[in-house]
Amino acid sequence: MIELREAGYSFGGEPLLGGLALTLAPGSFHFLTGPSGAGKTTLLRLCYADLLPTVGEIELFGQSTATMSRDDISGARQRIGVVHQDCQFLDHLSVTDNIALPLAVSGRDVDAHRENLRELLAWVGLGPRADALPPELSGGERQRAALARAVIMDPDLILADEPTGNVDWEMSMRLLTLLAELNRMGKTILVATHDLGLIRAAKAQVSARVLRIAGGQLQLAGADL
Ligand SMILES: Nc1ncnc2c1ncn2[C@@H]1O[C@H](COP(=O)(O)OP(=O)(O)OP(=O)(O)O)[C@@H](O)[C@H]1O
Ligand SMILES: [Mg+2]
Repeated sequence: MIELREAGYSFGGEPLLGGLALTLAPGSFHFLTGPSGAGKTTLLRLCYADLLPTVGEIELFGQSTATMSRDDISGARQRIGVVHQDCQFLDHLSVTDNIALPLAVSGRDVDAHRENLRELLAWVGLGPRADALPPELSGGERQRAALARAVIMDPDLILADEPTGNVDWEMSMRLLTLLAELNRMGKTILVATHDLGLIRAAKAQVSARVLRIAGGQLQLAGADL
């Protein structure tokens, strides 16, 4: 799915990440941890070619991001569902319309996906909130809507940036269960989180590897988490 080879990233000449080596195999589940400001969001942005590495190489679905055209990148992005750290909804559109937005943007017939949308809303437990506007949602409801929007295009890879930020433990577990279900359906998952409790709880549900960013480098964290 994704391969990083000695990749690194600098913001304005200031090195942030370096020597990144990582292979995300199809169907794998990885957590990405590290302190605030370590570069978790930046690494995810590299993984969906929102940023290009300033050194080294990143291969996305077998093609180097450096040689990808705009069309190649938008094609690759259709296979990737991203849950952004700050959710980012259009506040004047209903929850359903926000979740359907990737369909509309890619020129699909949204009406042909009504049933699919209804099922997806039920799956994340937002059936009764289908017509609500984003500002009317609780934090946990927003996170579940963001997850639904990330999977509406049936992506192969899901990159989730702090998908359990600002929600209570019970809601974190609910989101984790949804991610584990997606992984069981064969999707490749990478979840950035600072919540070590979440990672520990995940061990009961999925076989996940834990990556940690420390000092600008990516390490495989020990099994003692
Ligand atoms: N566009 C940018 N320009 C300059 N510096 C940036 C930019 N985006 C992020 N940074 C810096 O890069 C570092 C890593 O940011 P990043 O958002 O990747 O961290 P993070 O690990 O996701 O943190 P958090 O846990 O708080 O979400 C931070 O010091 C941040 O200030
Ligand atoms: Mg972040």
